[in-house]
Amino acid sequence: PWWRASPQFSVRASFTPSTAEGLKIESVPTKPVEGQKTGTSGLRKKVKVFQQENYLANWIQALFDSLQPEDYKGGLLVLGGDGRYFNREAAQVFDIIKIAAGNGVGKILVGKDGLMSTPAVSAVIRKQKANGGFVMSASHNPGGPEYDWGIKFNYSSGQPAPESITDKIYGNTLSISEIKIADIPVVDLSCLGVTNYGDFIVEVIDPVSDYLELMEYVFDFQLIKGLLSRPDFRFIFDAMHAVTGAYAKPIFVGRLGASLDCISNGEPLEDFGHGHPDPNLTYAKDLVNIMYAVNAPDLGAASDGDGDRNMILGRGFFITPSDSVAIIAANAQAAIPYFKNGPKGLARSMPTSGALDCVAAKLNVPFFEVPTGWKFFGNLMDAGKISICGEESFGTGSDHVREKDGIWAVLAWLSIIAYRNKDKKVGEKLVSVADVAKEHWATYGRNFFSRYDYEECESDGANQMMEYLRDLISKTQSGEKYGNYILQFADDFSYTDPVDGSVALKQGLRFVFTDGSRIIYRLSGTGSAGATIRIYIEQFEPDVSKHEMDAQIALKPLIDLALSISKLKEFTGREKPTVIT
Ligand code: G6P
Ligand code: ZN
Repeated sequence: PWWRASPQFSVRASFTPSTAEGLKIESVPTKPVEGQKTGTSGLRKKVKVFQQENYLANWIQALFDSLQPEDYKGGLLVLGGDGRYFNREAAQVFDIIKIAAGNGVGKILVGKDGLMSTPAVSAVIRKQKANGGFVMSASHNPGGPEYDWGIKFNYSSGQPAPESITDKIYGNTLSISEIKIADIPVVDLSCLGVTNYGDFIVEVIDPVSDYLELMEYVFDFQLIKGLLSRPDFRFIFDAMHAVTGAYAKPIFVGRLGASLDCISNGEPLEDFGHGHPDPNLTYAKDLVNIMYAVNAPDLGAASDGDGDRNMILGRGFFITPSDSVAIIAANAQAAIPYFKNGPKGLARSMPTSGALDCVAAKLNVPFFEVPTGWKFFGNLMDAGKISICGEESFGTGSDHVREKDGIWAVLAWLSIIAYRNKDKKVGEKLVSVADVAKEHWATYGRNFFSRYDYEECESDGANQMMEYLRDLISKTQSGEKYGNYILQFADDFSYTDPVDGSVALKQGLRFVFTDGSRIIYRLSGTGSAGATIRIYIEQFEPDVSKHEMDAQIALKPLIDLALSISKLKEFTGREKPTVIT
């Protein structure tokens, strides 16, 4: 484990398991509530749904009923969240902490003010050898009384509970009859410290320190500090009023010497300042405007509600997430101490562009293509098969934790830029974010990539469109002409996990053409209303003279083809996508 590899780590004094003896535990009768099917990112619904009596309590109890007693009795759990509306109520009034105690958990580590980012929860679980942890978050969905809330459970490796557990939780929600609640008072989450309630212990911890320690182990902070202290380099980080606000100041300002005005929207707010905390070109508009204005900073970055997604921008230059993971992988060995022996292997989700494939080929390391969803990387990491991976959906990360990690991605980019400029004198032209990307394309070729999202479509129309495409795939043959493209193959992507042999079917409809171009159709698995159709379009361009083209222009013929093949307009009535990335 990472904390053993470095002598500087202080493993917290080990905690002695105990039982819930001495606590008054009440058994409260309850009845099943509908609609508690746990998705792979946990349970995500409108706040109003969670405010129904026993809705959340039932799910938490069903979760404990799904675990083996030895996986939590007298054990250690972690509780964190993204700071959104209803987190405080969920922790205390709707009883997460009391139900944990009621079920015999020995100790719970809670982030101060209930805050802890998703990657930090993963890091704390791993470092403190916890049995698991909860993240109270609906990720990048808006927060507030009218919006979304969510909860997910990660197990002892720090990764989201697998379907075998989430299916059990759902099963248990259908037959639940009692909730075990311990009688403990409301805990003051605003003060660090340990409180004993009988044999149950609540420790309010700094949500940053273990995570920061890990980042200092992974990256060369001196190198980054050198960059951030240059008068000719400017950095801006937009925390979108979400959880990374709590991390940005201590890390970028406190440890790395960035000035305080580098952090924008750095205060975590319950409604994310009325924002939609999703770092992309549409929802991180403020940052995009700054980065495309005259006199823009040199590197701009943002992270989402719970801190696992990221967006990286250079001056007037957008790094697609597909390129980002490829560029990080290509430069990791030189710029990031954690990868000093080179990445073990690389992986991306199926719709993510093939830019990473080219890097894996050049580095001559194993490469994996998995379905959409971070959970598919976990087994590969635990088996030591990969160390860097990413998704087109603004997720990038490595095996330092078992979640994607927004701040990690920003530190990776800062490391690359710092490394490339470490010998530059002030006044010399610096290697920019755009330079790094263009050099990368010149070496590996450019994978033009774009994603069109059609959010909140009528489910019927969206499903019919997918059925229509499935039918088309069953009839089409390689060699057939689609516009100017010749089909190599079309299929519904399936994946067999090389570690445990589990099979995931129907993971996205692919049309792959003989020149390597791809059109992929998927229905989102994370939306909270209606159906979201995603169309992913990719075209490989080896010719350097064409690399500077705008992606939307370069991809226009393929985009038109994607719309016509799918008859999207006929099935959904939509003229335009809601989001283009
Ligand atoms: C979450 C998951 C990712 C996934 C993304 C988009 O962030 O953690 O693994 O790529 O959502 O998923 P979707 O099903 O909405 O395309
Ligand atoms: Zn997220």
